[in-house]
Amino acid sequence: MIKIASTAGFCFGVKRAVELALNTENCCTLGELIHNRQVTEELAAKGIEIINDIDKAQGRTVVIRSHGVGAETYKALRERNIPYADGTCPFVKRIQDIAAKCSAEGTQVVIAGDRDHPEVKGIAEHAGNAVIVGTPQELREFLGNNDKKAAIVSQTTYSLKMWEECVKAASEYTDVTVFNTICRATADRQREAEELAAECDVMIVLGGHHSSNTRKLAEICARHCTVYHAEDLNELLMTMPTGRFHNDTRIGITAGASTPAHIIKEVANHMSEQIMNEEVFNFEEALDASFKRIYTGNRVKGTVISVGNTEIAVDLGTKQSGFVSLDELTDDPSLKPSDIVSVGDEIDLIVVKINDAEGTVALSKKKVDAMKGFDDIVKAKESGEILEGTVTGLVKGGAIILYKGVRVFIPKSQASVRRDDKIEDIVKTVQKFKVIEVNEQRNRAVGSIRQVLSAERDAAKEKFWESAAVGDVFKGEVKSLTSYGAFVDLGGIDGMVHISELSWDRIKHPSEVVKIGDVLEVYIKDLDREKNRISLGYKKDEDNPWVKFDNEYTVGDVVT
Ligand code: F3S
Repeated sequence: MIKIASTAGFCFGVKRAVELALNTENCCTLGELIHNRQVTEELAAKGIEIINDIDKAQGRTVVIRSHGVGAETYKALRERNIPYADGTCPFVKRIQDIAAKCSAEGTQVVIAGDRDHPEVKGIAEHAGNAVIVGTPQELREFLGNNDKKAAIVSQTTYSLKMWEECVKAASEYTDVTVFNTICRATADRQREAEELAAECDVMIVLGGHHSSNTRKLAEICARHCTVYHAEDLNELLMTMPTGRFHNDTRIGITAGASTPAHIIKEVANHMSEQIMNEEVFNFEEALDASFKRIYTGNRVKGTVISVGNTEIAVDLGTKQSGFVSLDELTDDPSLKPSDIVSVGDEIDLIVVKINDAEGTVALSKKKVDAMKGFDDIVKAKESGEILEGTVTGLVKGGAIILYKGVRVFIPKSQASVRRDDKIEDIVKTVQKFKVIEVNEQRNRAVGSIRQVLSAERDAAKEKFWESAAVGDVFKGEVKSLTSYGAFVDLGGIDGMVHISELSWDRIKHPSEVVKIGDVLEVYIKDLDREKNRISLGYKKDEDNPWVKFDNEYTVGDVVT
């Protein structure tokens, strides 16, 4: 039996860096792009040279590998005006950013990892004064003597078991923040390798001997069975004992993040021939079955690995790279990708299109959100629950409210309580609404803002009548004018200032004194609960011309 780990081979970050180098004209790589001899030879055959000193770039674009580089290298490239293409894996970039931020805030950065690994060296440079610990024991020793606030990050390919111990050690100290920065691809690969090794007699681990993640895989597998670590089939044949395996030998194959698929395929093919198995081993089927497959329309989970201005990149745990464009993130035109997701978020998505030739998958978040949102809407229709959404725009006959990705139609008659309110005024505002109609077949919903406002007004009226008394003073907005007075909103209930109460002068229409939208200070002159009538006063005693006259003149004054 041969079983290939589904996580074997190129990870997202390595695939991205290799593609970047292949698609960058006239480039060279700063150090080995990945720790794999075959890939390095393939790149060299395409004229992509490895340089270790940026001064050797000589008019070429420098490709930065997925391990990333320190801040000093970026600075040197800029100072020398050397163009570069940044292949730093977004997961590594995230650690560099955490290290730089914590260090700038005065926190001691501690990196759990291999101090000679370029990724760790680069992160340490971004932090400025990082401490590197190789084992949980070293971490314990450091924390025992440290009196500063500390932040612990891990190398992306650090052993999961050792990291768990580091987290346990950190929990024994206060003022220590732990950032889990082990790459999920690594964690998944290590976990699957361990499970596979536990059920196999022999494990073949493919990958470069300098590749730390491949070495770790070999270490993990060796706890359970015999392990052969080789770069490719040739090396495997040299190290493995000659002779055939029995047909009941259980052989597992896994590979590091830098191992190309064709090497895995070659080894698997060879091993299948070696097994004296009566059944014909079908490599294609075995390989197919071992990779995580996705199809258009599948609902999948993905981890956000970068957030741009117009799209985000997502790791799906598949061979393809996932992308969500802004218009598939949201229908709300006022939002940017960074308002919706952050690097590291795990989100639900729907596969919209798979491009096998380019190795990309177009995904949609808004479609999943809409599915979840529509379920809420159906429930809200049943329960009468009030929902809240943003009015995104007007359509014929009404407006659209966006609720969790679902467009809910608000008919014009349901947009407000007052006939003279302008529907345009609610665009780009957040409004509460009640669901009044749902068509589940057509995924359509109709809502009413008016019903919510009416209920609020009824409640406000009830409260008003419980406490209002003649003489109470209010500030209220003029909502409408008639020939006999002005209606003022007292906070959900309208009172009227009669025309005679608006001014001491004789006026023909309230508009000579006030206009709609003015905020007036009014007082209650009279209340009639039966008739629901509130009479308000507006003109002030001190403005009474008779009082003014009396204050200014006395009997005997000569007035012109
Ligand atoms: Fe990036 Fe993880 Fe690969 S950190 S380079 S995706 S192993």
